[in-house]
Amino acid sequence: MTESNTKHILAISGSLRRKSSNASVLQAASQLGAERFHFTFYNGLDTLPHFNPELDGDGDEAPEPVRGWRAQLRAADGVIICTPEYANGVPGSLKNALDWIVSSGEFLDKPTAVISASPNPLGGDKAHASLLLTLKMLTASIAEGATLKIPMVSKKLNAEGEVTDEATLGALKQVLHVLERQMQPSS
Ligand SMILES: Cc1cc2nc3c(=O)[nH]c(=O)nc-3n(C[C@H](O)[C@H](O)[C@H](O)COP(=O)(O)O)c2cc1C
Repeated sequence: MTESNTKHILAISGSLRRKSSNASVLQAASQLGAERFHFTFYNGLDTLPHFNPELDGDGDEAPEPVRGWRAQLRAADGVIICTPEYANGVPGSLKNALDWIVSSGEFLDKPTAVISASPNPLGGDKAHASLLLTLKMLTASIAEGATLKIPMVSKKLNAEGEVTDEATLGALKQVLHVLERQMQPSS
């Protein structure tokens, strides 16, 4: 956790593409929240080995990329995941990363926002639902209002890949607001 009042958010894109629209959505969220949050973008999804509990040992013996991934989660006050849908589900690389957390527990009570973005009109609804199931199993804390599906995402970006659609930017602000409230210490 960060020591100052600035909350630290770990942003995770479920797409490995260089020009990913999901990464663009996370970039927009980081710009909207720049004054209140410190954003770190996790970029190690494709460095994690395929999940195998036999590689995990007692946790200290886990492969180095897995230890790094867990450490980044531990250091975050909150998490935002933005993912595409592949073949009606969560991209395998993202699911693989989450499988590594089942035994180590870094998502326990972690304030988490879940966003899916798709060029199709359903906004990746099946990946979204499946991701929620997995994160709930990991006991992530997902508040009402901290979820968002973004349909027709390609129409919401400009030629530079920046989110320009006002309604989407407004919805992202709302998600950040809910996440921020959740990260406040309870009095
Ligand atoms: C192999 C493959 C399968 C896909 N399956 C789905 C799908 O089931 N549902 C969906 O909404 N989009 C699907 N898509 C389209 C992705 O949502 C689209 O490529 C999206 O832009 C990827 O996100 P990105 O721009 O962040 O990389 C699929 C794309 C590929 C390449």
